[in-house]
Amino acid sequence: MADKDGLKVAKDYHLDAPFANEGGFYVKGAGNLDWGMKKHLSNIFDPKSGNTVMFAFDHGYFMGSTAGLERLDLVIPPLIPYVDVLMGTRGALRTCVPPENRKGIALRVTSGSSMLNDDLSHECLAVDLEDAIRMNADCMAVQTFIGADGQLSSLENLSRCINEAMRYSIPVMGVVAVGKDMERTDRFFKLATRILAELGANIIKTYYCENFEEIIAACPVPIVVAGGKKLPENEAMTLAYNSIKGGAKGVDMGRNIFQSNHPVEMAQSIRKIVHEGYTDKEAFEYFTDLINK
Ligand code: R5P
Repeated sequence: MADKDGLKVAKDYHLDAPFANEGGFYVKGAGNLDWGMKKHLSNIFDPKSGNTVMFAFDHGYFMGSTAGLERLDLVIPPLIPYVDVLMGTRGALRTCVPPENRKGIALRVTSGSSMLNDDLSHECLAVDLEDAIRMNADCMAVQTFIGADGQLSSLENLSRCINEAMRYSIPVMGVVAVGKDMERTDRFFKLATRILAELGANIIKTYYCENFEEIIAACPVPIVVAGGKKLPENEAMTLAYNSIKGGAKGVDMGRNIFQSNHPVEMAQSIRKIVHEGYTDKEAFEYFTDLINK
């Protein structure tokens, strides 16, 4: 391991230069992967726009019944037409998501914490590879806790999952967690996203922050941005717009969709930003028109 003293600050991100190793495939960092991996990634990232709208409803894995998700069976089906990927636990997917849907599946595979604990940073790999294959998952999502107590075990979970998933060409999404005592700076997100990509994650889910373009440039796989706590709809659209403008390949949004008074219209409007180049203002106008119809 390099000596930590006297390290130079990384600063040359060549923001004007596109990713240099596309290898004839449109998903960043996937050019050298095999057909099966590329097929799964194509189920996640739209081949036309290159982007994705993931709908996250996995909150129950540590929050239990969550506002807006009290009835998974009622909330999820109407949203399915307007999103590209359904991100949930195997319990929610098997019980409340019709298998006839044609959308990508991001399967949450870690668990072990609950809202009753102060330290949420300790998780285990709870879903094995065989079950992910049975569910035809397009990626397995592993929560990681860089800089927190559970860092080592979460990176071990991630590495074990990648080792297994590689055998059957299933992509792994590394999820960057932010705990209550953890910093939310660009320095932190640059560190965390790059660590997960270097460990072999094929997609990184993280948060938007300042200097986001540098985080994108330094990360050799696609980044999708988590929605985070519920915001007014126009602000959530600005978050999505800034993320895409900054180089994210999509959003993985939960509460800002399912806690909206108009979840379907919200998903439709976010889609316009992610896939059709709408600005946040245009998308909000579209949203307003939809809800006033
Ligand atoms: C992440 O670990 C959570 O379980 C959610 O998947 C994630 O936070 C995205 O949902 P939200 O947009 O509500 O933050």
